[in-house]
Amino acid sequence: MRVFVTGGLGFIGSHTCVELLNAGYDVAVLDNLSNSDKSVVDRIEQIAGRKIIFFEGDVRERTCIQVAFTKFSPDAVIHFAGLKAVGDSVQQPLRYYNWNVAASITLFQVMAETNVKTLVFSSSATVYGHPATTLINESSPIMPTSPYGHSKAMIEQILADMVNADSTWRIARLRYFNPAGAHKSGLLGECPKGTPSNLMPYIAQVAAGKLPELKIFGGDYNTPDGTGVRDYIHVMDLADGHVAALTYLGQQAGLITVNFGTGCGYSVLEMVLAVERISGKKVPYRIVERRTGDAEECVADVSKAMSLLGWNARYGLDEICCDLLKWETNQFRQATVI
Ligand code: NAD
Ligand code: UFG
Repeated sequence: MRVFVTGGLGFIGSHTCVELLNAGYDVAVLDNLSNSDKSVVDRIEQIAGRKIIFFEGDVRERTCIQVAFTKFSPDAVIHFAGLKAVGDSVQQPLRYYNWNVAASITLFQVMAETNVKTLVFSSSATVYGHPATTLINESSPIMPTSPYGHSKAMIEQILADMVNADSTWRIARLRYFNPAGAHKSGLLGECPKGTPSNLMPYIAQVAAGKLPELKIFGGDYNTPDGTGVRDYIHVMDLADGHVAALTYLGQQAGLITVNFGTGCGYSVLEMVLAVERISGKKVPYRIVERRTGDAEECVADVSKAMSLLGWNARYGLDEICCDLLKWETNQFRQATVI
């Protein structure tokens, strides 16, 4: 089976490419390198011991997708490409709707025209907004609080309408919680351009001495230690989940929506302590004001992923920290950071 991966050189996409190759799929990637580096192609191939086909191009450009589809003839698509910074989306809503919603429509149109009707889509726990319950299941209300969240919710709705109109589509909407960690080889990991805005890459850079201290956004939440609680999922577990979703779609037409998390929540302070324990280094921190828009607690009910896909997370906090720190100190990261 031939899988076309948009955004396949990015953080989650690159790890998923490795797992797809390991599972025997042929893989082609379309990526415009707006948040990645071409050297990732070599590293994916080095880890998996197999080649991928790389198309440098933009999902917003119909001809880029058409040319790549003609050359590769995919059976299925995994659509990772898009913008993902919540704060930026508030400042630049049109950019976010263009890169996320408009680009996705272009991709889905080309898929429909070429009869490629199997799709795995990267959605996000951000569609739940500020959840009312501690454990969030897939039926929880969709109430995004940012243009980024709205863009994901809109694409989810478009996909539901597509399946409604044509039941031969096979579509998985995967709602990721907080992806973290890196490949255990130290060759692949997240490579945020500039100062990271997410917690885990930020802590890793503080532990490595590249940033002076962590600012913890809020110490007065109604959580055991007062700091925000999230469900951190190892990126290799997430990658595995995409293979499980593709396997499911191979057997069953229609639309599925699945949370990908671990079901365990950890506070910011617990993550700091875990990194300190594993790195043996101090992570200086200061508690500051809450960050606008942050939820108090966001943890997945993962029972559907298990019952539907037979998938659950294999890695815990220690592996996330260990692999992230290994990646952080790896020479390859140094070579690709801008
Ligand atoms: P990433 O930025 O590391 O990867 C995205 C990749 O897509 C990059 O390689 C980038 O160059 C490419 N890209 C972006 N726009 C493109 C376009 N128009 N055409 C071609 N390539 C394009 O992001 P990620 O963390 O790997 O996230 C992947 C997907 O998962 C995104 O859709 C994101 O919204 C979603 N997601 C991420 C998180 C997270 O915390 N990382 C959480 C929930 C959902
Ligand atoms: N945090 C800090 N200091 C920092 C960064 C983060 O205290 O420098 C805290 C946040 O306040 C929050 C926790 O760490 O309590 C996690 O924050 P992240 O920015 O790492 O992640 P978010 O939960 O805000 O959002 C992430 C992605 C979204 C995605 C969402 C899905 O950034 O794109 O997970 O759950 F939609």
